[in-house]
Amino acid sequence: MFAVHLMAFYFTKLKEDQIKKVDRFLYHMRLSDETLLDIMARFQAEMQKGLGKDTNPTASVKMLPTFVRAIPDGSENGEFLSLDLGGSKFRVLKVQVSEEGKRNVQMESQFYPTPNEIIRGNGTELFEYVADCLADFMKTKELMQKKLPLGLTFSFPCKQTKLEEGVLLSWTKKFKARGVQGTDVVSSLTNAMRKHKDLDVDILALVNDTVGTMMTCAYDDPYCEVGVIIGTGTNACYMEDMSNIELVEGDEGRMCINTEWGAFGDDGALEDIRTEFDQELDLGSLNPGKQLFEKMISGLYLGELVRLILLKMAKAGLLFGGEKSSALHIKGKIETRHVAAMEKYKEGLANTREILTDLGLEPSEADCIAVQHVCTIVSFRSANLCAAALAAILTRLRENKKLVRLRTTVGMDGTLYKIHPQYPKRLHKVVRKLVPNCDVRFLLSESGSTKGAAMVTAVASRVQAQRKQIDKVLALFQLTREQLVGIRDKMRVEFEYGLKRDTHPLATVKMLPTYVCGMPDGTEKGKFLALDLGGTNFRVLLVKIRSGRRSVRMYNKIFTIPLEIMQGTGEELFDHIVQCIADFLDYMGLKGAQLPLGFTFSFPCRQASIDKGTLIEWTKGFKATDCEGEDVVDMLREAIKRRNEFDLDIVAVVNDTVGTMMTCGYEDRNCEVGLIAGTGSNMCYMEEMRNIELVEGDEGKMCINTEWGGFGDNGCLDDIRTQYDKEVDEGSLNPGKQRYEKMTSGMYLGEIVRQILIDLTKQGLLFRGQISERLRTRGIFETKFLSQIESDRLALLQVRKILQQLGLDSTCEDSIVVKEVCGAVSRRAAELYGAGLAAIVEKRREDQGFEHLKITVGVDGTLYKLHPHFSRILQETVKELAPRCDVTFMLSEDGSGKGAALITAVAKRLQQARREN
Ligand code: BG6
Ligand code: BG6
Ligand code: GLC
Ligand code: GLC
Repeated sequence: MFAVHLMAFYFTKLKEDQIKKVDRFLYHMRLSDETLLDIMARFQAEMQKGLGKDTNPTASVKMLPTFVRAIPDGSENGEFLSLDLGGSKFRVLKVQVSEEGKRNVQMESQFYPTPNEIIRGNGTELFEYVADCLADFMKTKELMQKKLPLGLTFSFPCKQTKLEEGVLLSWTKKFKARGVQGTDVVSSLTNAMRKHKDLDVDILALVNDTVGTMMTCAYDDPYCEVGVIIGTGTNACYMEDMSNIELVEGDEGRMCINTEWGAFGDDGALEDIRTEFDQELDLGSLNPGKQLFEKMISGLYLGELVRLILLKMAKAGLLFGGEKSSALHIKGKIETRHVAAMEKYKEGLANTREILTDLGLEPSEADCIAVQHVCTIVSFRSANLCAAALAAILTRLRENKKLVRLRTTVGMDGTLYKIHPQYPKRLHKVVRKLVPNCDVRFLLSESGSTKGAAMVTAVASRVQAQRKQIDKVLALFQLTREQLVGIRDKMRVEFEYGLKRDTHPLATVKMLPTYVCGMPDGTEKGKFLALDLGGTNFRVLLVKIRSGRRSVRMYNKIFTIPLEIMQGTGEELFDHIVQCIADFLDYMGLKGAQLPLGFTFSFPCRQASIDKGTLIEWTKGFKATDCEGEDVVDMLREAIKRRNEFDLDIVAVVNDTVGTMMTCGYEDRNCEVGLIAGTGSNMCYMEEMRNIELVEGDEGKMCINTEWGGFGDNGCLDDIRTQYDKEVDEGSLNPGKQRYEKMTSGMYLGEIVRQILIDLTKQGLLFRGQISERLRTRGIFETKFLSQIESDRLALLQVRKILQQLGLDSTCEDSIVVKEVCGAVSRRAAELYGAGLAAIVEKRREDQGFEHLKITVGVDGTLYKLHPHFSRILQETVKELAPRCDVTFMLSEDGSGKGAALITAVAKRLQQARREN
């Protein structure tokens, strides 16, 4: 009995002594709670640094955006391939997700070896090897004839700009294949797969193993928002608020961040806790100076740390009686599985003896106890460090959510965590101590990270299918060069039809003579009134022209025309106009003055002289009754008479295109074309009198108002008109009319966009499939909004704000799609304009028999002026389709009122000359 007690006492004493000895020797490796809290705080700061746009380049913890935006919601389904490369084992898998609508995942997998000559050889060969394994797997599983999407779990730090791309920042752990760093691993693997002609696989997602682990666990526990690997390497990911991720546009929702915490300390931040053993281990590694945190924690390094310590202790005579075996000198001889075995609760000591003996040592009882304690200190430090970093992440999550207490789940994986007998318990305990205000559930990922990778791939494949649908819609708006050439040529044919007496009555491009025969010559002078009706704004102007110096002064006032007047009776409309004139005269102190007036009236009018214009039909937003077929000059005169307050001398009625051409022609005598890209779409130009069959005389030129907005009304554009164009047409005031205008001008582009958005929403591709009341509202997308949305300078966030202002509650993805839709619609408009304009300049060149033509086009209209890309695309298209014309575009700064006044001045002069004759 006494002997037993003595033995027990002896053993306890022996143990105490050994433990004390080791504790003393490894004093530096034992981290106090205070130190852990300090490390936790340091890691919090590191995360912040990695997330900041300006600080990220110098941050060692890279906080990589993963483009995984949500945890699985159970709606994922399909059949996927999966590769799992970078952990201790390389696997190829087939994953079948939830066929019958319930959460259900089936996997078949096959392990393949990863020999050193492959993972440290040539990059191309590595990817070819991976592709070979995949092909082999597919053959064995008879999957060759299937086209399956693939998710790649690639457990190395990759910089992603989208889910299906990842540029390897640096190899870590055991890998070091040449020529891969700095390149996209997805395209490398895709290229390698091309060698297998019978392989038809689409890599849809690249995920880190931490992300795969988090997603795997989240499939079973929706609270899971963190993934941690403690295996060959160590790392963690978690769901971060988008608003904190400065490297990715958008602020809505969350995105998973791959912290790559293994690199914590690479900038020296952990020097105070690193020991000489850590330094030595690092120097002997594949990546010295890198992954310093990982090297204190993960499975690839723990055994080696123990070995270095034992060697040092033996050298110091603290172990094995000062004897060292040759095996103890060999790098990698002690592995993590040995450490785990030595720390086993019951068999630990026996295991230790066996392992040490296998290393050629002759350990005493005391040595075994000491070595076991070395293992404990090393693995305990590992768990402590992980706990500190994880505590920092949990705190961040709690603060992001502004919670006092956080309930959350952490998905766990990795061999060290799985096979080490004490590790999980210790880690959990320390985490709970460091963050007492978090209720953490640790969930082991039983099935590795591939189940999660399959979830990500499932979502990606749904997104890809949706993308295809969106692209299909956008493709309807893309015109080929051949199509544009065809449109140019058709437009040319319509010009000729409109000019010829026989064909004119049926022509859809009306080619209206304007009786404006010459450009201003600078001798014009006087004071004129001008009206400018039919664009976005209705203006009344006073224009003072001084001869000789070509100087013009203008005063104007904008008046609104209420909708009920635009679409009321003709009498009401013209009474309103006269009311505005009266107000203006009053405002200018010109009451009672009898001034000559030029009337810019931006609608198609048949003219028999400069001061007569019969409205053929309303276009754009006007629909006042009793006007079509009437002379608008007469209607204005009668309204003035009705008011009986003042008299005006209405000298000219001009289209806005003509006014614009004149405004610009006053500055540049080469200006022989007037173009409006505004609410409506139209063009005028100077034509040879001999070509105008409707007007007597062959001498000189006359301006023709083409009214090209009607192009296509005979069906000649049907091959490019989309269902959306038809819907816009049907909802307009003049169905079937002005088809070209409805594909090109500001009043309709927004409507086309709206129709597309409605359709995409119906297809479930936008706005979560919900068509809001706002989206049903006609006219919400004015040209100015379209222009704002398409501005390059605008961040996605701002696009979202604009959409919000319009009452459209959009996600960031929605905003991207809306912007693309706007872009497709406005590009087509600009190209169609370009085709039309190319037709006219080519005609002018040919009519004059020139090899080359130099010509100026005067332009006005909000679409041209405000839209960020319209004018450029228009100009490029003209250049492409009329290569022999050198076209200068001149923006009309002063509107068409000035031109109208100049025309009035010329007309007045001619009138007087006639009278004097
Ligand atoms: C596996 C996962 O279970 O764990 C891998 O499927 C991951 O994706 C690995 O890389 C990490 O652990 P270890 O110990 O294999 O590196
Ligand atoms: C203005 C002209 O500048 O532009 C108007 O003065 C013309 O005559 C208008 O109708 C066209 O643009 P929008 O965009 O106002 O229709
Ligand atoms: C290494 C890799 C990291 C991976 C981890 C666990 O740290 O850099 O991407 O997640 O190992 O496998
Ligand atoms: C409409 C009108 C036309 C005008 C154009 C631009 O197309 O019919 O006359 O020039 O809009 O405002």
